[in-house]
Amino acid sequence: MKTKNKKNKKKNTLWGGRFKAGLDKDVLRFSSSINVDYKLAEFDLTYSLAHVTMLAKCKIISASQAKVIKQGLKGLLKLVKAGKYKTNPDSEDIHTDIQNKLRVKIGPAADKLNTARSRNDQVSLSTRMYSKDKLMNISKSLTKLQQALIKLARANDWVVMPGFTHLQHAQPVLWSHYLLAFVEMFQRDKERLADAFKRVDVMPAGSGALAGTSLPIDRDMLAKELGFAKISANSIDAVSDRDFVIEIISSLSVIAMHLSRMSEDFIIMSTAEFGFIDIDQAFCTGSSLMPQKKNPDVLELIRGGSSRVYGDLISILVTMKALPLSYNRDMQWDKEGLFKSLDFIEEVLLLMTRLVKGIKVDNFSLNQALADEFLMATDLAEYLVKKGVAFRQAHKIVGELIMFCSGADKDITELSLKELKSFSVYFDKNILKMIDPQVSVKNKISYGSTGPLQVKKQLKKWAGKLQGVKKYA
Ligand code: ARG
Repeated sequence: MKTKNKKNKKKNTLWGGRFKAGLDKDVLRFSSSINVDYKLAEFDLTYSLAHVTMLAKCKIISASQAKVIKQGLKGLLKLVKAGKYKTNPDSEDIHTDIQNKLRVKIGPAADKLNTARSRNDQVSLSTRMYSKDKLMNISKSLTKLQQALIKLARANDWVVMPGFTHLQHAQPVLWSHYLLAFVEMFQRDKERLADAFKRVDVMPAGSGALAGTSLPIDRDMLAKELGFAKISANSIDAVSDRDFVIEIISSLSVIAMHLSRMSEDFIIMSTAEFGFIDIDQAFCTGSSLMPQKKNPDVLELIRGGSSRVYGDLISILVTMKALPLSYNRDMQWDKEGLFKSLDFIEEVLLLMTRLVKGIKVDNFSLNQALADEFLMATDLAEYLVKKGVAFRQAHKIVGELIMFCSGADKDITELSLKELKSFSVYFDKNILKMIDPQVSVKNKISYGSTGPLQVKKQLKKWAGKLQGVKKYA
């Protein structure tokens, strides 16, 4: 009776030969990762299928054994894909769960599956496969967001807005130029993801627990079958390494930061004080008390949620920093943060793209904001530079002019020619034409500036670069 009980307790784990008793119930609950790593089921099964094919090809198991195991695995994969796979909460992890289910399905033949592998290389492999999938998805979503931004830029391509530094009026810029700034940022984000991807795309399977195996496996065959670009060159490194998790969350952190800044800008621009844009009400919520409220909650949640991604980054860095080589169970905590951050960015990118598509630009409010003549102060300084005045002097002259106007509560365009000339002999009536945001923008000619010709070139460049926006070329 006692023996039976012990046996029952032990049957859920992939180990136990050297243990007298099964795992303590509370320890099992504490140490199980099934609630998190169930997401790896599809990848773990795909790997196992390829593993069995390889074992048979290398004559480590027989073809008939492989056939039975593969049939069992395929049945489980079908369940996963149909959303009908039910994990056992008493399993240590998804790898154990699959192995146990396979044994129930096909009997002792299942015991051959774990030949020449350990969960240490298995967990790294399936996490890499899962991540590769997600990274490709996120990269595609970034392109979609870029496309939405370009569309919004094209629809308002000559709209001018006040540009800001220190959140104070700085110089007029094109709204399209402003939006393209985010397109650039998201492009760098994609490049970072693509770079991280290269190091995720390394296959650790075949490293065993840490030392490799004495069995004649074919790792290249496995890598090819599973679509990995490379195989790991050191079995100790392969099971110890979580750099790829760190790099992914680090890249996601930068995306989160960009999305958060974008949210912050849109929140400010949609206030009554600015009124530059209108956010579709489907992306806002009301107040339970104040009937007039339309709050940008989605943008606030994106801004706030970015901090959680940074938390996940710090968490994995701290987890890894003092671990002795090679595998340690501490590393099991990696997946929770990784999956959470991947899901968050994936969801936010979809929402932000839809939100951008619904943005309406309010020309009236923009024009009101552009009535600030001091936005053109730098243009006046550059006018003087073109007349031969040293920039430092020109800066001082225009500064004095601004101080005078502020003190007299006058616009620059209200000053008489005599008054203007008292600041610089080079000032003439022509400068009044320059006190115009459209002219200010038009006069910008440097590469990458907000000049309409420059922006047009950039829009054309992006149209060529981003698939599906070729019509803008
Ligand atoms: N579930 C573990 C993880 O996610 C893998 C199991 C390896 N366990 C072990 N005792 N070697 O990291």
